Amino acid sequence: MSMATVNQDLESIKIPGTTSVGWDRATPVNERVDEHGRPVSTSIPFGVDDPRAPKLRQYNHPTVQNLRDQLREYNGIRGLEICSPEDLDRIIHIYRRDGFVVVDKLLDTNRLENLQSACELELKKILSHRPTNDRRYNAETGRLPHRYCYGTSSASRHMMHNPAWTDLIDLPKSTPILTALFGSKDYLVWGGGGDLSLPGAVEYQHLHTDGLDSQTNGEERLIYAREHFDISPTMTFSDLDFRTQKLVMEFVPPGITINFTVSELTWENGPIRQIPGTQGLAQKPPTLDQEPLWMRYSTLVGVPAGAGIFRDTRAWHGATPNLSKEIRALPSIEYAAPWRTNETFQKSMPHPIWTNLSKHARNICRKIVQKPGMWPHGAGYTHPLAAARQQAFQNSIGTEGYVEKSYTDPSSAGTALRLFNKES
Ligand SMILES: [Fe+2]
Repeated sequence: MSMATVNQDLESIKIPGTTSVGWDRATPVNERVDEHGRPVSTSIPFGVDDPRAPKLRQYNHPTVQNLRDQLREYNGIRGLEICSPEDLDRIIHIYRRDGFVVVDKLLDTNRLENLQSACELELKKILSHRPTNDRRYNAETGRLPHRYCYGTSSASRHMMHNPAWTDLIDLPKSTPILTALFGSKDYLVWGGGGDLSLPGAVEYQHLHTDGLDSQTNGEERLIYAREHFDISPTMTFSDLDFRTQKLVMEFVPPGITINFTVSELTWENGPIRQIPGTQGLAQKPPTLDQEPLWMRYSTLVGVPAGAGIFRDTRAWHGATPNLSKEIRALPSIEYAAPWRTNETFQKSMPHPIWTNLSKHARNICRKIVQKPGMWPHGAGYTHPLAAARQQAFQNSIGTEGYVEKSYTDPSSAGTALRLFNKES
């Protein structure tokens, strides 16, 4: 592509609305790239293929049209409940039952427009790094083509340096819900980012959980479970019968993520899929070749812009094909339970942003705020390739830290290669 065409392409990025970005026919279906942007063989475990994906990344290709016809007919959970933020009892009931709940009208018009613009701008940054081969875009390392994450594309691993994101942390309509779901107001912010897909992301992302729940910390979880149901104050976790112990595990999530909708989720634009009732399971979700059709269609079609999807991070979920001409972004804030340890918290929030937050937000962000006078390492540098992000973080931190690289179990996370920034 010429430079002028590249710029026109980026200028067409619009959320919501149609765009010329995406649908790159030159990017093979199921192709994944390593940390340097080199395509890797699909036979090595570097992300997961969708064996039922269309054959070509082309809007009108017959195999795309065939999938589009199926999705038009079947995509979306029938009778999906969408709650109003004031309906707290119903929200808690649905969340505990399903492991997720959709809440409408979390964002006022100003916040929504602000977030839409920020999502456009951050996507332009991601796509501005052009590949050296004939592909139209650098794919994100370890993810399927045309899929990115605002968090993992940032060299700080989060978007906590961007006020459009940090403004979402303590909303008048979300804080009472989080407090009820965690059983405490002392939950923590782990970070924020959010998945996005370009038009032409034709593959399903495999079902996964965001992290694995070791189902330990029973005694600590019991403290928060007492908020939810009656347990005699003299009973410890080990005194409880197995059913009650199981209930404690089900009701006390290690983390809750809110994904905010910046445009309506439709049958065609890649709505997130959530499998209800999977938050307490120890077994793994089915792989893409085993996944039944009912799970592939178990998506949140019809969620309007400005809503929030509260997800227990353990509940099975995954991204779905975006066969439209619109970008589908789901910016997120990731919250951790009060009993989570320090080890995975990263200093991704600049101190001046933290200072301007509400008192409650300052408290729950205390583990991610960088010290005064120091910019969070890697924050503000965005790149789809892991090697570039690793370099940026290391250049910033020098000898005071390092990046730990880990290849994850493909069934447990959304990406094959994850970077963990460590400060000593
Ligand atoms: Fe995920």
